[in-house]
Amino acid sequence: MSCRYITTPIYYVNDRPHLGHAYASIHADVMARYFRAAGDEVFFLTGADEHGEKIAKAAQASGEELQHFVDRNAHLFQDAWLRLDVTPNHFVRTTDAAHQQVVSAILAQLYAADDIYLADYEGLYSIGQERFVTDKELVDGKLPEDRDPPVVRREANYFFRMEKYRETIRTHLYTHPDLIQPARYRNEILQLLEEPIGNLSISRPRSRLSWGIPIPWDEAHVTYVWFDALLSYISPLGYPDGEAYRRFWPAARHVIGKDILRTHTLFWLSMAAAIGIQPYQRLHVSGHLLGADGRKMSKSLGNGVDPLEAAERYGTDVLRYTLVREVSFGLDGIISNAVIEQRLNRDLADDLGNLAARSLAMMHKYRAGAIPAPHDYQAAEQALIALADTLPARVLELVDEMKVAQAVERVMEFVRQLNQYVAQTEPWALAKLPQQAHRLDTVLYTLAEGLRIAADLLAPVMPGKMAQLKRQLGGAAGPSWNVAWGHGVVPGQLTHSELLFPKQVSEGL
Ligand code: MSP
Repeated sequence: MSCRYITTPIYYVNDRPHLGHAYASIHADVMARYFRAAGDEVFFLTGADEHGEKIAKAAQASGEELQHFVDRNAHLFQDAWLRLDVTPNHFVRTTDAAHQQVVSAILAQLYAADDIYLADYEGLYSIGQERFVTDKELVDGKLPEDRDPPVVRREANYFFRMEKYRETIRTHLYTHPDLIQPARYRNEILQLLEEPIGNLSISRPRSRLSWGIPIPWDEAHVTYVWFDALLSYISPLGYPDGEAYRRFWPAARHVIGKDILRTHTLFWLSMAAAIGIQPYQRLHVSGHLLGADGRKMSKSLGNGVDPLEAAERYGTDVLRYTLVREVSFGLDGIISNAVIEQRLNRDLADDLGNLAARSLAMMHKYRAGAIPAPHDYQAAEQALIALADTLPARVLELVDEMKVAQAVERVMEFVRQLNQYVAQTEPWALAKLPQQAHRLDTVLYTLAEGLRIAADLLAPVMPGKMAQLKRQLGGAAGPSWNVAWGHGVVPGQLTHSELLFPKQVSEGL
């Protein structure tokens, strides 16, 4: 048994969760469920990023008191995960006292080691966006979203000596080629590391922003939100001497989107080196979800699918299945209601749902609602059994690399083979011939055991529906893993079965 630590990004709680958040959380949850099913000990973390300018501004706009605002929004995230069957072991909030203590202690440690120093920072500052901007961001001398051009501003900031660790990070990336997956993101970072990465401003003057963790030795400054946020990966484990920290760090896999790749490599790896802890084990980097118009899903474009509305309309499991199957992790991909309906109607209703419905219906019709015991296996069954025997290991191997779409596709191929098996063996014809009774028993048992295996292998993606299918097969609803052929369903009475995936067709999609 191994210990595995899986994290999502901690989300900014300036608004309610959107589908991009759900995409990351569902992938992390699916991975956690596969590892748990396979017998590993898993700690799955998600949480809320609650400090910084973005949050302070959103709270101000809402007219709510800051702590009240973040409490309310953090709960929206917790509720959403509950609705989407995302089941973390812990939900960290950066306003938690334990987290703030860890951040303060690490700041003090790095300051004492002279890895943090005070210096004047001079740059172009956007009053509209309340942040320093780079030349590259400017169009005709100003940010496109601003009315006025930025002004030159000079302020005292604490800096972290990130550049000092550039070589350490490079070496680590070269000696750990699997650290960042997919590989194209690793190449992007290696490219960046060819040039100086500079030092990182890790404080903001309190006069400008007070919503943050105070710099422990200087009350005129608060901590920059990213320095604070990245430490939320270790604070909930009880860093530095907690039991969970000892067991689960550095066996960490961070699931993130490509827009936060730099912070998770340049910032986080240099911070780990300075603190003197092992870097995480793996970074799984996703692409972006696009709306039906092919543009990045965003609220302002209005091209998004709301995760909770989609779960309500199609079911949580259908949404989870579509997200992991449709958009291969690491690539960009379109999600719309039409895409969800296609996956529901084709993969889930036509392939899996139909297999379950007709197999169970035949057992009800020909065997009075019971799973018969099998007799001699012929070549058709032996081929299916051979495939079923190798599937769990293959699925796990793919999940280990966060290739969940491919893992699920392997299981769905098995489901389609079971459908072909029904067509080949024609149980309805066997049922008419009394001398074929044993043969029919074997075919029906094969279908029941095949369905049980598919349900076990898909349960991490669709926990609700696959538990329902297992109950319909007369077994315990809980997941079981790698139970060899013949040891799953027990010949005997089936329970009442109802359609798993009713089709849905909307107008005008
Ligand atoms: N708070 C930081 C993360 C700190 S982790 C120590 C943050 N939060 S976020 O709420 O803005 O975004 C969280 C994640 O959602 C990111 O990984 C981002 O890539 C992801 N997504 C936001 N929009 C997305 C899409 N349209 N598609 C897929 N994921 C996207 O960044």
